[in-house]
Amino acid sequence: MATRRTQVGIVGAGPAGLLLAQLLMQRGIATIVLEQRDRRYVENRIRAGVLEQGTVDLLGEAGVGHRVAVEGQVHGGIEISLNGQRSRIDLARLTGGKAVTVYGQTEVIRDLINARLKAGGEIIFEAEEVTPLDLTGDQPRLSYRHNGEVCELTCDFIAGCDGFHGVCRSQIPKSVLRTYERVYPYAWLGILAEAPSPSHELIYASHPRGFALFSMRPPTRSRLYLQCTPDTDLAAWPDNRVWDELRLRLGPDDAGMLNEGPVLEKSITPMRSFVAEPLRHGRMFLAGDAAHIVPPTGAKGLNLAASDVRYLSWAFFQHYETGDSTRLDSYSKTALSRVWKAERFSWWMTLVLHKASEEDGFEARIRMAELEYLLSSQAAMTALAENYVGLPF
Ligand code: APR
Ligand code: PHB
Repeated sequence: MATRRTQVGIVGAGPAGLLLAQLLMQRGIATIVLEQRDRRYVENRIRAGVLEQGTVDLLGEAGVGHRVAVEGQVHGGIEISLNGQRSRIDLARLTGGKAVTVYGQTEVIRDLINARLKAGGEIIFEAEEVTPLDLTGDQPRLSYRHNGEVCELTCDFIAGCDGFHGVCRSQIPKSVLRTYERVYPYAWLGILAEAPSPSHELIYASHPRGFALFSMRPPTRSRLYLQCTPDTDLAAWPDNRVWDELRLRLGPDDAGMLNEGPVLEKSITPMRSFVAEPLRHGRMFLAGDAAHIVPPTGAKGLNLAASDVRYLSWAFFQHYETGDSTRLDSYSKTALSRVWKAERFSWWMTLVLHKASEEDGFEARIRMAELEYLLSSQAAMTALAENYVGLPF
């Protein structure tokens, strides 16, 4: 059996694990990343694409701020289309100049992997059967199999950045772990198309036929979503039907703005809210989707992974540079406080924008009142704007 040692053993090469590895590397803290998939798979997963300014800043601190600064599209507003009528929410004016940056998660991942490998950092792709061991002892370990060989990595700490389906969260004893969950009765059918998006800003559309989102992957592609049921069969949605439905949900005045083009990818995204508490067990810390999931409506998944990693990296800096573990001890509480606020916002955005059940007339009327109020009240728009651009740390 091959045995090795590192300071922080990181499970998962998603945004959380890779960003943590880069930040720690900048301050001389040794890490090894274990990832179950191959590099190609990790680099080609298509996911959300809206970055809060805090996330962009953190990428800069991690030494990967260059490409996002050049290629990312800064958006000072979003549009809400209510029953075919568009209104703009001026994020910049309502938040004192803050904005979001549209830059695909796929690009973030590529930047992080390239930077790590260039700097001589290690990512062990195709690490099988990764198992965290001895979490409550002084020397936690990660056992895994690589190229058929059984290996063991001894660490000071383990960072569980292995996403919702990872192994780390399940190592926390049931008597300690508490989970909170909401599964929504709808999903998103998403396409990536080789065609410019209908507007230069994102359009969130609430329509009697259901929600639709018109987003983009600059410079030339659009990323478009339709509310559907979780059991939707993609075979029933040929491209023509998707384009027709997108036009209908944009409404007759705006339907002409939609540009059709070859569909490069089509998939269904389920919607759930989930939080696991606490984010620490012994010497293992959870960050990102390993600990929490948000429905994609508020575009918070990647940003929450980044904010966890910000707190966790500060805690490791303090521990290794001063010997003080106060921040490691308070990590779970501090990170969860921000997580729950983003959970609340994502839940709220999801409920107000999606079509409620046909039978529940009361819920549908309340939802309409909420949207009309939102679009007519500076106070309500400000509340949306400050959450959308990202709450402070
Ligand atoms: N062993 C090793 N690696 C694992 C294991 C395992 N047992 N299980 C999962 N992984 C890897 C996955 O293959 C994936 O590459 O962990 C990584 C987790 O990455 P993400 O799922 O992207 O999670 P995270 O880094 O927390 O990023 C959250 O990703 O899901 C999106 O929208 C979400 O933007 C958010 C972001
Ligand atoms: C995306 O571009 O994929 C996207 C944008 C905004 C969201 C969700 C997804 O709220």
